[in-house]
Amino acid sequence: MKLLNNFVGWVDDRFPLLDTWKEHLSEYYAPKNFNFWYFFGSLSLLVLVIQIVSGIFLTMSYKPDALLAFASVEYIMRDVQWGWLLRYVHSTGASMFFVVVYLHMFRGMIYGSYRKPRELLWIIGVVIYLALMAEAFMGYLLPWGQMSFWGAQVIVNLFSSVPFIGNDLSVLIRGDYVISDATLNRFFALHVAAIPLVLAGIVFVHIVALHKVGSNNPDGIEIKKNKGADGHPLDGIPFHPYYTVKDIVAVVVFLIIFCAIVFFSPDMGGYFLEANNFIPANPMQTPAHISPVWYFTPYYAILRAVPPMFGSQFPGVIAMGIGAIAVVFLPWLDRGKVKSVRYRGPIYKLFLASFVISFVGLGYLGMMPVTPTYTLMSRVLSVVYFAFFILMPWYTKIDKCKPEPDRVTFK
Ligand code: HEM
Repeated sequence: MKLLNNFVGWVDDRFPLLDTWKEHLSEYYAPKNFNFWYFFGSLSLLVLVIQIVSGIFLTMSYKPDALLAFASVEYIMRDVQWGWLLRYVHSTGASMFFVVVYLHMFRGMIYGSYRKPRELLWIIGVVIYLALMAEAFMGYLLPWGQMSFWGAQVIVNLFSSVPFIGNDLSVLIRGDYVISDATLNRFFALHVAAIPLVLAGIVFVHIVALHKVGSNNPDGIEIKKNKGADGHPLDGIPFHPYYTVKDIVAVVVFLIIFCAIVFFSPDMGGYFLEANNFIPANPMQTPAHISPVWYFTPYYAILRAVPPMFGSQFPGVIAMGIGAIAVVFLPWLDRGKVKSVRYRGPIYKLFLASFVISFVGLGYLGMMPVTPTYTLMSRVLSVVYFAFFILMPWYTKIDKCKPEPDRVTFK
């Protein structure tokens, strides 16, 4: 123990080790009323680490070559020791990343965590979300299966609908006139190096920004307004040990679910790994039904809901893009007197419920083949989805809120 203390002292004389530990853990005061919604930030961090570690090991046996990629994945599954586990951990991790990040974002929405002073923290979050979508999209091309190929084909083609620069843009993304070996190579470089570096960097900045302003909480009130004689918030408790211990419980539960999927249902009935992707990419044969993985389908449904204009799909592409980044505007759209859903009035709750229904409904419709009924439903739900954002300044203002408590409520 003395040796360890001496070592820590030696390091601390040369690096702010103890100061960092105190500022960000043992003396970072977090509200004492966190509930289960507050688990998903640390779970997102956990999945990020899982993805990076499993990804590094997969890269050791994967071949980013259009002629070898599919076979190298089969090789990983059959011959590489524990290769099947690595691959299933990584593919399950991709979907679970979106599960925890969507829940994390939704928590921010219901408790108004995007409101002042956390606007920048929220914007950084949206940038993380965009980077995550790019990371998942590029990773999906790598197994070079039918869905990898045709999914990339559909999405990259969307960029060619951009007026004037569309064709050049899609050639730039592909590195070729068609999805090819060149595309696979650049997606590989971006997927294993560029985007993970960016992701790790912005996640770091995300935490720094959070610790500057402090955490929000389920009551949506600022604990920094009530400080004790020692200068610490009366409603705050040190993150370490209280929340580190609490988070371990969430990690254990999460890992049980994660392992259950990896070991018993790694394809999750086609939701995490699509059946068509077990067939090698064939540029000469379009699959009967192309749809992205579940986490993209709400936006895909919006894309298909918007009819082409002058033969161009561009309006749909714009609607899809705005749909994906719409949450970034929340800090400026929300005029409510209170932050947390606990003290909001019925109108806000109604709109929030319709938002959830539209997002889940669009997610379902995005997986379905195009039929007149489904298209009509997608149109209705797209309107409901956008109405949540567009009408927000109005309904949050007229809504009858309940008074917020002065101190956090804690049972
Ligand atoms: C890799 C993805 C992400 C990681 C690792 C991550 C990590 C974290 C962590 C560890 C926290 C503190 C614990 C907690 O409050 O749950 C946090 C808080 C927060 N994150 Fe994220 N996050 C990610 C993505 C996002 C996204 C996509 C958004 C929003 C678009 C977002 C918005 C927020 C907000 C607003 C808070 C403060 C919440 C509050 O205090 O109520 N994060 N994040």
